[in-house]
Amino acid sequence: MSETSLQFSFWTLGLIATIVVLTVYFQFFRYNARTAEAAPTILTSIGIFGTFLGVAIGLSHFDTQNLQESVPQLLGGLKTAFWSSIAGLLGALSIKFRAVMNVTHGEEHHQRTASIDDLNNVLQKIHTAFSEANEEAAQMFAQEKQESYRSLKLEGILEAPINLCITCDRSKAGPVVLGRTHIKTMDLYSSVCAVQNLWLAARAEGVGVGWMSIIKEEAFHSILGIPQEVVPIAYLCMGYVRHFNKKPELETANWRQRLPLSEQVFFDQWQHTKSGAEEGLIAELDLNADFPQKFINA
Ligand SMILES: Cc1cc2nc3c(=O)[nH]c(=O)nc-3n(C[C@H](O)[C@H](O)[C@H](O)COP(=O)(O)O)c2cc1C
Repeated sequence: MSETSLQFSFWTLGLIATIVVLTVYFQFFRYNARTAEAAPTILTSIGIFGTFLGVAIGLSHFDTQNLQESVPQLLGGLKTAFWSSIAGLLGALSIKFRAVMNVTHGEEHHQRTASIDDLNNVLQKIHTAFSEANEEAAQMFAQEKQESYRSLKLEGILEAPINLCITCDRSKAGPVVLGRTHIKTMDLYSSVCAVQNLWLAARAEGVGVGWMSIIKEEAFHSILGIPQEVVPIAYLCMGYVRHFNKKPELETANWRQRLPLSEQVFFDQWQHTKSGAEEGLIAELDLNADFPQKFINA
């Protein structure tokens, strides 16, 4: 390589520097899904601009009568064209490469539009995680209850038109949060209240909701990409149902019976059950234990 071939013109250096600075900016300060898509186009466009500029510079004073002086200038222009397009392509490739690696490592799932296949894949994985946990659960019960347990339908992951995972980002509101200064778990309770509100609203609209909780919590993190510091609160299977049961299913299946309300309500002190004046109130509560049923039958 001759000494002169290493000398770069102002234009070549300017274009290469622009491309390098932009590549570093996109890679280290501004990398996200939009950048991954737009940056390669920007970088190759600058490279192509350099190519045309170089050719234009090379030809601008080309004089066929004076080839001796014209050829070096033409070559200089071609060098600008060549190096700027190489720099643009390398910058674009580095960003494309990173995007491909991210997808391979599963980091970009949330950044691209999910296809039906992606959704199906996620649901199948959740269903498999449920099935594994459900079998473990069955074995935790006494032998004589296991058959009954296995006959229960405890999820609607694949049939429900909507699967909704509700989470609680415990650090979202900063280190000190009004209402959470002393009982730190309030954010979790609050999120559960949101679930209950959704459930009530859905039922009022005739939409069935099932809370699917037989699964290892870690499965939510790994399958749905939920960060470790965010708590998966509820996984709900929602949709219009053929009918609502008149009685809770676990009661019908003889799994467990409803506890008398009068034994669950205490007065003044823990374990103080009905006494004197409160007896009437408790009797009233017990009488209306099926209160919501009236709406279903109406
Ligand atoms: C915290 C919680 C967790 C639940 N986990 C499950 C579960 O894993 N599987 C299941 O079939 N039902 C579960 N249920 C019960 C059902 O989601 C729900 O009560 C049932 O579908 C009846 O719905 P309905 O009360 O709207 O009629 C859970 C309920 C609650 C409150």
